[in-house]
This record gives sequence, C-alpha cells and structure tokens, in this order.
Amino acid sequence: MTNVEAMAKNALGFSNKSDKEIIDFESTFGAHHYGRVELVVRKTQGQWLYDEENKKYMDCLAAYSAVNQGHHHPAIVRALVDALQNNYASVISNVVYTDSLAIFLKKLANLVPQMGPRFGDNGNKVLPKNGGVESVETAIKTARCFGHLEKGIADGQQEIIVFENNFHGRTMAAISISSTQKYKDGFGPLIPGFVTVPFGDLEAVAKAITPNTAGILVEPMQGEGGMYISSDGFLEGIRKLSDEHNIFLIFDEIQVGLGRTGKMFSFQHENVLPDGIILGKALSGGMAPVSAFVTNSKIMDLVFQPGRDGSTFGGYPLACVAGIAALGVIEDEKLHENAERIGKILKSKIENIASRSKHVKEVRGRGLFIGIEVKSGDAMSFCNKFLELGMLCNDSHGHTIRISPPLIIDESDVDYITERLEKVLVD
Ligand SMILES: Cc1ncc(COP(=O)(O)O)c(C=O)c1O
Repeated sequence: MTNVEAMAKNALGFSNKSDKEIIDFESTFGAHHYGRVELVVRKTQGQWLYDEENKKYMDCLAAYSAVNQGHHHPAIVRALVDALQNNYASVISNVVYTDSLAIFLKKLANLVPQMGPRFGDNGNKVLPKNGGVESVETAIKTARCFGHLEKGIADGQQEIIVFENNFHGRTMAAISISSTQKYKDGFGPLIPGFVTVPFGDLEAVAKAITPNTAGILVEPMQGEGGMYISSDGFLEGIRKLSDEHNIFLIFDEIQVGLGRTGKMFSFQHENVLPDGIILGKALSGGMAPVSAFVTNSKIMDLVFQPGRDGSTFGGYPLACVAGIAALGVIEDEKLHENAERIGKILKSKIENIASRSKHVKEVRGRGLFIGIEVKSGDAMSFCNKFLELGMLCNDSHGHTIRISPPLIIDESDVDYITERLEKVLVD
C-alpha cells in the first residue's frame, strides 16, 4: 500500500482515531458553523448509522433529505464504482461533450413535468450545479433576466417575492432572502431586490406585486423553517397571480422533492405547475453534490448562452452517474409511493403518541416529512434523548422535531421510531 493509499484508508470511518480525537480535531481545525451532536459516525448503510462500538442509530434526519434512497444504495454504489474503475469519473473540462451528462440531462428533463406550460410545450432544459444553493442562484438569475427581457423591467429594478421563514441556503443571495437575523448579522451589504411576505398569505403576495415583480420563489413546504405545509389553495393562488402578472414562479424542492412527501414532487399535492423547479440533495442519493435548475426550454434558452453561467464541477461524470442511478432507484423502487404509504402509518402513530403527550403542540407533515412541534420550543432537548436511544433527528427552526428518514423504511422501522418517540414524549 502506498503512503497516499494508507492515508486515505485511515480517513475512513474505522481509522485508528478515537471519538475524542476526532471531535478534538474537528473543533481545533474546523470552522464551528454547525452545532454537532455527540455522535461520531463510522459507517452508514440504508437507514442506519453505526458508531465505533457498532451501535446502530436510525437516521431520521437523512442529511435533510439527501439520502432518500438510503445510505450506500447498492445500485448507486455500483454505478459509481464502475465509473471510477472504467476511467469515467473525474471532472472533464466542460468544453467537451460527455455521455454521462447527456443522459442525466435527458432523464431529469423528462422526469420533471413540463415547467411553465404557458411558455409552450417545448420540453424542459436542465442547468446542473453542485450544492443546492448554487441552483437557487441560477433560479434567481433566471427570474431576474426573465423580468428584464420578457417584461421590460429595467435591469437592476427586478424584484422577487420570497417568504418569511424560508430557507434557500447560505450564499449571499440566500441569506439576503432569509428572515432569520442570525444568518445575516455582520455579513452586509446584503443583496437587494427581494420582498418578503408571510408564508401562506395570498393577500400579502397580491399586495407585494408591482410592475417590477419578476419572480416568486417559494418552498411548497418549508423544511428548515419549521416544517410547514402551505395552506390549501396557496400554491394555486400564487400560480394564478403569476399568470395574471406574468411572474416567473419558482418552487424550491431541494428538501421536499424527489419522493420525500409521498409524491415525486411536492407540488403534485396541488393542481399547479411552476415555471422552474430547483432540485438537489437526493438527486445523487447522497453520494455526490448534485443540484439542478429545471425550466421550460424556451426560458432556459432565453437566459443562458455561453458565458452566462457555469461551474467547473456542475454536471461532471461522477455526479451525473450518481444522478442517473439515484433517479433510477426512486423510480424503480417507487420510493415516493413507499413514502406515502409508510408516511401515513407513521404519522397516524405519531398523532396517537402526541394525543397522550404533554410535550407536543402539533404534528404536521406529508409522506416521510413529519414535524413534531414541542410546547417548550426546544426540540433539540428531545432529539438528544432520541440519540441515546439509537435514533438521530434534529430540530427544524428550534421548535420542531424533524422526522425524515430514508424513504426505504418499512413497518418494522416505523415501530422502531415510534417506540422511541413513545418513551421520550410520553412520560
Ligand atoms: C429548501 C432548501 N433550499 C436550499 C437548500 C440549500 O441546499 P445546500 O445546502 O445543498 O446548498 C436547502 C438545504 O437544506 C433547503 O432545504
């Protein structure tokens, strides 16, 4: 074994480092931009995480929906190993064509229903990136440019309507949109051109529209903001307003898309189609950073020509191979249908527990995207107890316990989850 091989092997989960050393290394040499729980994960498989003693924890966070297919799904692993072993994985200068990108683009463009049908039945086009927030940026650029070119808004005057409690990531544009002060304090000047209204308040949206409104950016269900489902008719209402005022409507489905809520896309719970959709996380089954912005071909061509966007790694072979396999797994295993079926069973059992718990304020969610809001407002205090019992969860917006396991779970996993919820929430 060469030195480099030995070093790489030693960085795998079962290195010779103790948990304490790993935690010390991270806190000494790493930025403290995440509050971590006291768990060092050494191995992951399916819905399970393993520590050094091989104790297993059910992963009810699933990297915020990035591992909908479960950790190390064998089909995705095989595809990646094949790509690595057959010299088709490393980044290739994006001045040339590759079949992995071509096939990934076609698969994703066809999986997403026709975006923005008011622009014609032109099919969809995809612009691939890496982390989710990069595709949020692409979507914002598209809405602004659409406003300028299609609506004649003076460049620099475009406005985009966004929603309180949103979460779209951590770039300057995404924190400028945020209504959470902690995300932006000290990072100014922020990016202008966003108007914030309460989530679910159609009247407020209507009032916020001006001749300069180029776009509306919304999560059909809020993930980080507290796991809120938009009120009935809200998405249809903003669709109608967008049609009336020629506004570019974008759904951020990075956390709730790709089967999580019991449909392939969460907007399919209502009778609406956006003009553009942002996807990420589960797009690679948690094996590589892959995200994408998908819109009507006409709009993609209007906004993006050579030089107008780009990313060295966006759409590179390993990511595309992961993407093709990850989408294939969702379709073949009908993970959205499993999320719907198992999610219903899990939610009704959680509602039963909640009815007997003095701690629970509200249970909400769809599919395997279930939030349990606690009266104390301190969801993490409960999550720490779940961790001791072999279950990883975290809070959403402080007050809500997020239950979002991989979509591969079955009834016995539901029992595993609810036994722990029962122990901690009903005392
Ligand atoms: C709805 C939503 N948008 C955007 C993002 C940002 O994605 P990433 O962390 O991959 O940049 C997230 C991440 O949690 C998200 O939930």
